[in-house]
Amino acid sequence: MADEVLSSTTKLEGERIPIVELSGVYKIFKQKKIEVMALRGIDLKIYPGELIVIMGPSGSGKTTLLNCLCGIERPNAGSVKIKGMEITKLRDEGIQKLLQEEIGIVFQSFNLIPSLTAAGNVELPMIVLGKLSKSERRARVEDLLKKVGLEHRIHHRPSTLSGGEKQRLSIAMAFANDPSIVIADEPTANVDSVSAENIMTVFKEFMASNPNKALLIVTHDPALRKIADYTLVIRDGQFVRRIESMQKEGKNYNQSFNGDDFIIDIHSSRTDTKTSQIIQQKNYPYLKDIEICPHCHSRNIVKKLDVDEVFAQICDNKVIERTAIFCKECNEISYITITAFDLEKAKLK
Ligand SMILES: Nc1ncnc2c1ncn2[C@@H]1O[C@H](COP(=O)(O)OP(=O)(O)OP(=O)(O)O)[C@@H](O)[C@H]1O
Ligand SMILES: [Mg+2]
Repeated sequence: MADEVLSSTTKLEGERIPIVELSGVYKIFKQKKIEVMALRGIDLKIYPGELIVIMGPSGSGKTTLLNCLCGIERPNAGSVKIKGMEITKLRDEGIQKLLQEEIGIVFQSFNLIPSLTAAGNVELPMIVLGKLSKSERRARVEDLLKKVGLEHRIHHRPSTLSGGEKQRLSIAMAFANDPSIVIADEPTANVDSVSAENIMTVFKEFMASNPNKALLIVTHDPALRKIADYTLVIRDGQFVRRIESMQKEGKNYNQSFNGDDFIIDIHSSRTDTKTSQIIQQKNYPYLKDIEICPHCHSRNIVKKLDVDEVFAQICDNKVIERTAIFCKECNEISYITITAFDLEKAKLK
């Protein structure tokens, strides 16, 4: 595939070539006389080294987007390029090759073969591709199972694994043939919060050890934003918002005050632990009082997505705190000032 890619791409020196490039992608499903426009002009470029999260309500087109990206669905209009190669016109064999070589998929339903062991499941895509010898395959299987923390489950069949273990096994399978991009549909939907954390760690480590690969995760779970370079919000088949990574947002927030008033960032100040303690004690009831999204007034909100998203700063001896609210209905992120209290009075109590 590499040769085809080079010939179909006009590469300027220093230009970054996206691994994935979707432009103007439309997908319409027809059922009897009803038409559903699942994607309405999606543009998306994913570059090597990027970890992108797509979030959106149920039915907004997330799975359809992934299916169009990897050739499982053919768009009605628009272009889908993988490493510069247009895939919308590929025949089934071409799509199959693409899926074997360039794209790893982590399915929500795991897609494991019940009769094979964990090792057998991970080895299968390598056997199908046929590029590695038996001993090379074995070594790679062991390495991948170790990376996802399943080395002690190597001879277990899927039915004997927990939900989180099955999901990690399906991640190892997705990475089996060393693809350029891995796409994951709701990878934490069917697992508990501890397993979800493990899965995030596996993804983060994958990106750290494969800087030229890319990862695209579709999810309802706002926690996954933590590991993303940026998050795209999709609604009714269109991207409606791009949210930069939390770290970047944190910096913007601090810069937005841009004055001498806000002189101490409590979370980075280690000298005054007593002040921090007072603020932590004060934090909880105020956070608890926030119940609705300020945009759409829905109660379906997640507060304090991450500890980094609570900011407390001192101004004129008053503490101003802000917290982040993620709304699961409208997918908006809001920063709300939750309290302003006099520090000296608080210390005296
Ligand atoms: N094969 C299909 N035939 C008809 N309509 C479909 C088909 N697949 C998806 N749709 C419709 O397209 C829209 C987008 O569906 P899609 O599965 O992409 O949503 P989603 O964002 O992945 O939702 P969820 O979060 O529930 O998985 C929905 O209205 C869905 O009913
Ligand atoms: Mg879906």
